[in-house]
This record gives sequence, C-alpha cells and structure tokens, in this order.
Amino acid sequence: MIPEDIINEIKYRNDIETAVSAYVNLKRRGKNLVGLCPFHSEKTPSFTVYPENGSFYCFGCGVGGDVFTFTGLIENLDYIEAVKLLAERSGVALPQDGYDDSMQRLKNRIYDINRDTARFFHSFLMSPEGKWALDYLLGRGLTLKTIKHFGLGAAPDSWDRLIKHLKQKGYSESEMTAANVVGKSSRGTLYDRFRKRVMFPIINIRGNIIGFSGRAMPGEDKQGGKYVNTSDTPVYKKSANLFGMNFAKNFCSERIILVEGNMDVITLHQAGFKNTAAPLGTAFTQEQVNLLARYTKEIVLTLDADAAGQKAAQRASQLLAGSGLKVRVIMIPDGKDPDEYIKKNGPERFSALLEGAVSDMDYKLLSAAKNINSKSDDGRLQYLSAAAEIVAESDDIMTRDIYIGRLSEKYGVSRTALTAKIEEIRRNKLRLKKKKEISEIIRPRLSKDDINPERRKSVKGTAAEETLIAVLLKNPDFYRTALEQLPVEKMITSLNRRIYEIIISTLESGRTLDVSVFAEKLLPAEIGYVVSLQNSDKAGKNPDIVLKDCIRVILEEDTLSSAVNSAEATAEDWAASLKDLIDKKSKGNI
Ligand code: UTP
Ligand code: MN
Repeated sequence: MIPEDIINEIKYRNDIETAVSAYVNLKRRGKNLVGLCPFHSEKTPSFTVYPENGSFYCFGCGVGGDVFTFTGLIENLDYIEAVKLLAERSGVALPQDGYDDSMQRLKNRIYDINRDTARFFHSFLMSPEGKWALDYLLGRGLTLKTIKHFGLGAAPDSWDRLIKHLKQKGYSESEMTAANVVGKSSRGTLYDRFRKRVMFPIINIRGNIIGFSGRAMPGEDKQGGKYVNTSDTPVYKKSANLFGMNFAKNFCSERIILVEGNMDVITLHQAGFKNTAAPLGTAFTQEQVNLLARYTKEIVLTLDADAAGQKAAQRASQLLAGSGLKVRVIMIPDGKDPDEYIKKNGPERFSALLEGAVSDMDYKLLSAAKNINSKSDDGRLQYLSAAAEIVAESDDIMTRDIYIGRLSEKYGVSRTALTAKIEEIRRNKLRLKKKKEISEIIRPRLSKDDINPERRKSVKGTAAEETLIAVLLKNPDFYRTALEQLPVEKMITSLNRRIYEIIISTLESGRTLDVSVFAEKLLPAEIGYVVSLQNSDKAGKNPDIVLKDCIRVILEEDTLSSAVNSAEATAEDWAASLKDLIDKKSKGNI
C-alpha cells in the first residue's frame, strides 16, 4: 500500500480535468465536463468528469473512477503503475518498498529480458555468424543506420542459445517464458521461440521493448509461418500497440501513414516518411484507434487494391468513423506494398501518391464502381443507388452537394432527383439513429444489472443499498449511525456489501473517503458504479431521514430474501455465499 498522504499529494498535483483533457476533448456542462468516451465508440458524449470530487463516469459503458483509474485504463497500466506514472509526472517521490508490487517487478524483469534479448539478436546479426541475415536486410535495401535505428537483429539457428545467454544473465526460466522469448514444450522442455529469423523488436511509446516479430528467410517459412510474433504477455498486448509508433509519434501531429507490415514501416521511415506505423499482424482495433487519436488528426491508409485490402479499408473506416479522425486512402498500384512500391518508383512517386490520396468517400465511390457495367441503364441505376448510400453518409451538406454535382454530371441524372434520393436515405438513417440513442439511454440500467447481478434477489433492497451508499459517500459522518443499525453482513447483495465494508473500514481507520480507496479493490465497472452513486442526487436534502429509511428497507428485504433464497438458491448464489464464508474465515471472523 502506498501511504494515503502520498496518494493525496499525487492526486492534488494531477487534477482530473487536466489529466483527462490530454486525451479527451472536454466541454463544460454546468459544474461538470463532458466528452466522447475514450473507452468505447460513441457519437454523443456520455463521458462525464466531476472536478468537484476528482472522478469520472461514462453513462454509455459504465467505466468510472478517479485520476488513477483513468490513467491506468487509457495507458494500459495497472493501478500501482498508474500511481507511479502520475507521481513521476508531477515530481512526487514514492517510498521504495512496503507495498506489494510483485506484478510490477515481473514486468520490469520482462522489460530487462526483452532488452537483453534484443541486444543478443543485434550482436548476432552483426557477427560473422549472422552474415546470412545481414545480407538479407542489406539486400532489401536497408542501410546499416536504419538497421541500428530500429534495433534489428537475428536469431541463431539454435534451440537454446538464447536460453543459455539469459540464464547467464541471471534470469529464471519462469521469467523467460513469461516474456515469451522462450517456449515450453508439453514435456516441459524449454526452447528458444525464435530460430533462424530476422528479428524486429516491438517498442512501445515509452521506449520499452515489449516484444518481437521474427521473419523467416525466404523459402524457409514452413515451420511456424512467415512471421512469428510474441504472444500477449504482462507487458505486451498486440491489439493495443502499433509497430513503429515509438518513432512515428514524434512526427505525426498532422497525419500518420498506416501500412500493413513491419518492413513497410522501416522502408518508409528510411525514405523520410517517419510518420508511419503498422498494426502488428492483427485486424485494426479500437484500442489502436484510441492510441492514434492521441497523436494525430488524420490517418492515411495504404492498401492493396485487392479484395482483402478493400475489406480492411471498410473495417478501418468504420472504426475510425467515431474517432473524430480524418481518413484518406491510398491504393498502391499493381497490388504492391509500400515497401516494394518505393523501391521500384522512389520516394517522390510515393509522395505524389500521398498527396493524391483520395478521400474516404472517393475511395468508396471508386470501389462501388468497380463491378458495375456503367454502359447499361441497369448498371448505372444500380451504381447510383449504391453511390447515394455512400454520399448520404456525409454529415456535411457542402460535401454532399459537391458529390451530387459530380455524379449527376457523370451519369446524366438530374441533381434534384439525386438530392431527393439522398435526403430520403438520410431521414431513414436519422430515424434509426434516434431509436438507437433511446435504447442507449436505457442501456446503463441494464449494465448496472451486469455489474450487480444479485439485484434480482431484491430490487427494492438493492435500490435502498445504493441510496445508503450514496448518502455515506456524501456524508461520511453518518457512518457510525449506519454501522450501529446495519452490520456489514446484513447488506443483501455482495457487491454492495463489499462497497459498504470498504467505506466502513476506511472511515474506521481514519482515512479520507474518496474514490481512490475503491480503486485497488474493485473492477473498473464496479468503481464506475460507485462514482455514479456518488454523483447522483439520491441522498436528497434530508440525508439523515433517507439513511434511516434505507436501513429499514434493507433489514426488511434481507429477512425476506434470505427466506426465499434458502428455498431456491441458485448455484451462483451458493458460490457467492461460500466465497463469503471463506473470506470471513480467512479474516478470522468465524
Ligand atoms: P505480409 O505477408 O504482407 O509481409 O504481412 P510483409 O510485411 O510484406 O513482409 P515482407 O515484405 O514479405 O518481408 C504483413 C504483416 O502481417 C503480419 C506481419 O506483421 C507482417 O508485417 N504477419 C504476416 C504475421 O503476423 N504473420 C504471418 O505469418 C504473416
Ligand atoms: Mn512486403
């Protein structure tokens, strides 16, 4: 545990409004601020920041918490790491030990292993033994400077040379397998995961090596495939990272070029396009979009003109639609990747391609035109309906007007007809959207049930528990009265019991009650639930009377629900009460 006064100091120096503003565009609404939630995709803001008590809550997806929870979620860190990061940012010194940071220690060991492994691969590449790999990289047009800059390396054709090297450096077998540079067979033997491959270290935006991509030599990709990549580890989540982002982040404030492969990133970087990154052999994800949205305004997708490329473009533009990022697409002629294109045609031609990158809409209209015979009336009609759907997607009336003009000229149809068609599509869409928004307003209620699945035991009792918690969060002084009349075990649902227990034990030990005390003990969605209660007006104007009423209802409902429960308890309930018993036992209460 980090001492409370230090937590408070860090919190004081990192106010939630400033911390969140670095990632989310916030607008003032009364005494609170709202913006588009960075944790799920949405078009209307339901992400709310409460500067008054340093908390946030999203009414759309239910996450919530304090500045530490926020930083942890958005930077992909656990609680202790988030505290450390904010402490570092604001110059607060942390005590060295005294709190449990075994996960953090393992992570640091993995970072160290990865760094030592990258060095091992790099020296091997540069040694006479690694000539085959160096020849290959030079043969693909990379300079020694680029090879160094990206820390490229090569894995020897051996099952245990890396293991031996790391052992000598003092790493344990379990640390090596946790880093995933070493694998373990079903018979328990350890082996080097990367063998006879050119190695690309994957580096996160903070400059730590988090994993590797290894490419087989041409013609030797039978075993393990063309690329072998690090699986997810405590420090690496492939869906949340992009190859090359550690360099690109410093050059992409205007736009970033997204390519498919590692080699494309490296070749483009060498040719002067330093604002380039690639997803790590995965489909593009929401987390990657969030990462990009923090650094850039516009994304240029480079894609094959083939079917797979078009599918990827569709998926990407769907993901990017809700992010506020501008998107343009370049189709590389002859189905080449950027690496091959630049080698054949030079950087100027690629630059021209970039400048001419068509808008997302142009791209979609071009793709739609591909399989249609525009000579026949039928074909033209078919194309125009598809095109109308595409143009209707733009919310900008000028943009729509420009495209309506072009289409009507090119396909000989009247502007009025086309405009009417497009407006009709938009009206229908709007109707659907309204419907969806209404169901989204209802959704938080449903998700509250997901968070507290025991609500069905007693809806009335659970509501009383929630109000009681809201009252205590606003009026901590009442906790003695509450405790006298309502012992912890009388709470009906186990989630609320846990929350009540945290409130009581915090106040009993003289600590201040704020969101941070929940952050270590509850899940993000559960903290969100607490924050939503804290910011609700359930406590009303006469919290003392409300408190009494709540306690009465909980006690009544508790008797009722336990009578019902013993008759028809579900397996889940049994598991929950069993866990309760075990918890109490381990605390010496039984
Ligand atoms: P490509 O097959 O297009 O490879 O896969 P590439 O990047 O052009 O590589 P070179 O030019 O042949 O050397 C694109 C990306 O998909 C991922 C890799 O990240 C690769 O860079 N991939 C591909 C894998 O993860 N595993 C595979 O087996 C193949
Ligand atoms: Mn390639």
